[in-house]
Amino acid sequence: ETFKIAVLPGDGIGPEVTREAGKVLQALSELDSTFKYESTEFNWNSEYYLENGRMMPEDGLEQLKTFDSILFGAIGDNRVPDQISIWELIMPIRKNFQQYVNFRPVKLLKGLESPLKNDKPIDFVIIRENGEGEYSNVGGTMFQGEAREMAVQNTIMTRQGVSQITEFAYKYACDHGLNKVTNATKSNAIIHVMKFWDQVVEEVAAKNSDIAYERYYIDALAAYFVQRPESFQVVLASNLFGDILSDLGSAIVGGLGIAPSGNINPSGEFPSMFEAIHGSAPDIAGKEIANPIAQIWSLALMLEHLGRKDLHDKILTAIEALLVEKKVLTPDIGGTATTEQVGDVIVEKLTK
Ligand code: NAI
Ligand code: MG
Repeated sequence: ETFKIAVLPGDGIGPEVTREAGKVLQALSELDSTFKYESTEFNWNSEYYLENGRMMPEDGLEQLKTFDSILFGAIGDNRVPDQISIWELIMPIRKNFQQYVNFRPVKLLKGLESPLKNDKPIDFVIIRENGEGEYSNVGGTMFQGEAREMAVQNTIMTRQGVSQITEFAYKYACDHGLNKVTNATKSNAIIHVMKFWDQVVEEVAAKNSDIAYERYYIDALAAYFVQRPESFQVVLASNLFGDILSDLGSAIVGGLGIAPSGNINPSGEFPSMFEAIHGSAPDIAGKEIANPIAQIWSLALMLEHLGRKDLHDKILTAIEALLVEKKVLTPDIGGTATTEQVGDVIVEKLTK
């Protein structure tokens, strides 16, 4: 089987870090004759928008649909409003390809130190609902400029949406020998949608009574992420809560330069998309100092999703070898190396 991979480098540091992930992909195929891939690059980014008036061609989704997976860099450029780049490129892909799971590991890799100075291992995953919830397009504004001006935006929770993300969390726990799921909620204050969320989550939890279930309000849970991160295994969260918790999660294990993610379509009907959590980082773009680890780890998640856990593990071992050695690191984690140098050393470690 030859995996077909669509590559969307995007803007800013997106192309810099995605180039390094591409090197790792190629090195793997050279090392392992059972691993074959074909990649196609798409230049759908802010530059494309300025030339064509849209973020991707009209048949963009049709084109992407034929791939097994998508590797996405990052999007965002000060010449195009963020609302356009996000809602006309990332959101259509996530929503149309039913990538309703946003999968974000929070794992302290060997060689990295947590700013928490916690000597216990941190290793859990955040499973964030990625298709509905607080990030809906339903709402509006009224009475602009008047004293009674107002804005309203609705949160949408559906039985199908909440139950399928919860089923995924339990299946993940089961498949990985984990024995606890933590629900992030706020049903004490958001009494309609979050109560409904809890109700549906707990129906699924009841069917999986061999796995422990706990529920915390999001504010308390944020504090526990800092105070006792070692106590979590699988954290289940709505779209907004999961977004915020995962940036906090990345901060306790080394920062945005490290943290990977997957936007997963569990049925396999459509391609899933893998991307570093970080954005296009305009403050460091073009300087060749972006940390490529987050994107290379995202590639590893893609390979695991495609059924090659062995290649995922190989990449993680190479990243950890680089981090333990502490010789070639980008400035965000205390080094002076370039993006390319870090990519080169990871490739070199793979071949050992
Ligand atoms: P950002 O993640 O781009 O940057 C935040 C900070 O982290 C900056 O100081 C940046 O230099 C640093 N940083 C990020 N990635 C790094 C890396 N690999 N190595 C070293 N340092 C790194 O977030 P920000 O500044 O809020 O957004 C910038 C642009 O990115 C905006 O246009 C935003 O809309 C977009 N964005 C796009 C995302 C995506 O493509 N999925 C996700 C988040 C933001
Ligand atoms: Mg975010």
